[in-house]
Amino acid sequence: MEKQVFIFDTTLRDGEQVPGCKLNTKEKVALALQLELLGVDVIEAGFPISSPGDFESVSEIAKIIKDATVCGLTRAVQKDIEVAGAALKGARRPRIHTGIGTSDFHIKAKFNTSREEILRRSVQAVKWARQFTDDVEFFAEDAGRTDNDYLAQVVEAVIAAGATVVNIPDTTGYCLPEQYGAKIAFLMNKVPNIDKAILSCHCHNDLGMATANSISGVINGARQIECTINGIGERAGNTSLEEVVMVLKQHKDLGLFTRIKTPMLNPMSRLVSETMRVPVQPNKAIVGANAFSHSSGIHQDGFLKDAQTYEIISPEEVGAEGSKIVLTARSGRSALAYRFQKLGYDFTRDDIDVLYEQFLAVADRQKEVEEENLHELAKAHKVATVAAH
Ligand code: KIV
Ligand code: ZN
Repeated sequence: MEKQVFIFDTTLRDGEQVPGCKLNTKEKVALALQLELLGVDVIEAGFPISSPGDFESVSEIAKIIKDATVCGLTRAVQKDIEVAGAALKGARRPRIHTGIGTSDFHIKAKFNTSREEILRRSVQAVKWARQFTDDVEFFAEDAGRTDNDYLAQVVEAVIAAGATVVNIPDTTGYCLPEQYGAKIAFLMNKVPNIDKAILSCHCHNDLGMATANSISGVINGARQIECTINGIGERAGNTSLEEVVMVLKQHKDLGLFTRIKTPMLNPMSRLVSETMRVPVQPNKAIVGANAFSHSSGIHQDGFLKDAQTYEIISPEEVGAEGSKIVLTARSGRSALAYRFQKLGYDFTRDDIDVLYEQFLAVADRQKEVEEENLHELAKAHKVATVAAH
């Protein structure tokens, strides 16, 4: 039987931490409503103690969201947890996401303490959070670089204290997919009470492996992926929601599914990009402007014969505008004929042979040959043909 992977969207928390991406309450509420329509299971709405504005945003989102779980982030600090509890008061499904660094880097450099003390604070934080809600997620920050035996002890202890989800963040984006997957498999096998909670993947993209690591995590037993629209987030960003969702949809053999309505992916990407004023790179998978553009002659010829030769996803499936045949100096005759036909010109093969030489002269002068150039070429060709007769 297929298993569900829960999608935990952190666009409004980890994504909003990006310099220049800060949102006001109205913008956050508007995005949260769209995220719910998209079908995300959990919306991480913010970090309530961080500012009065973020407290208000989490509180407003908590009141308005009906189906999705609304989550607030805290440190393993009692005051943080109390403030998050208050912000989430109106939520139908409130979740507190609390945690602390568990790698030796964090234990020594950040907290100047011991593994035993971090274990104690972890358990205490979960117990405090359980006073406000039954849905408590614990994050073991920098789990990617945490010793696996110690991580297993922390995971066991926080589950015993009442955590229902345990987040295994690769905070620095350091892990290789095999390493991250092996870490999840190790926890699934070694933690005696692992059946009482689910493991969550929260992978950063510092080495460009966030999506691969998250997929490796769910292949090895994790049941939640934390991600953002367009992959925005601290430094090089988070796992991109649209990528993991489409990986699972394409690879049905994995037996994993999400509830995301994929035709909303492109509109959602545009909305986040416009609201946060962060452009999407053109070659971004699924939502980039070139994700369904074909520009070389070899690809265009194959695509025009059968789209599946060069497209594994149809643009409609992810709400993109449609496939594009872009004309450049690398394009071939079939692409040129196709574009003329789309503009309503009915040229013969011989016409196209002549036009193609003229087209190449234009294409060598500019990056892309536009519609107006095609009209000019067609007009000049007709004049020349009439004159020749
Ligand atoms: O990257 C990280 O470790 C985080 C935690 C706060 C979950 O964002
Ligand atoms: Zn993060």
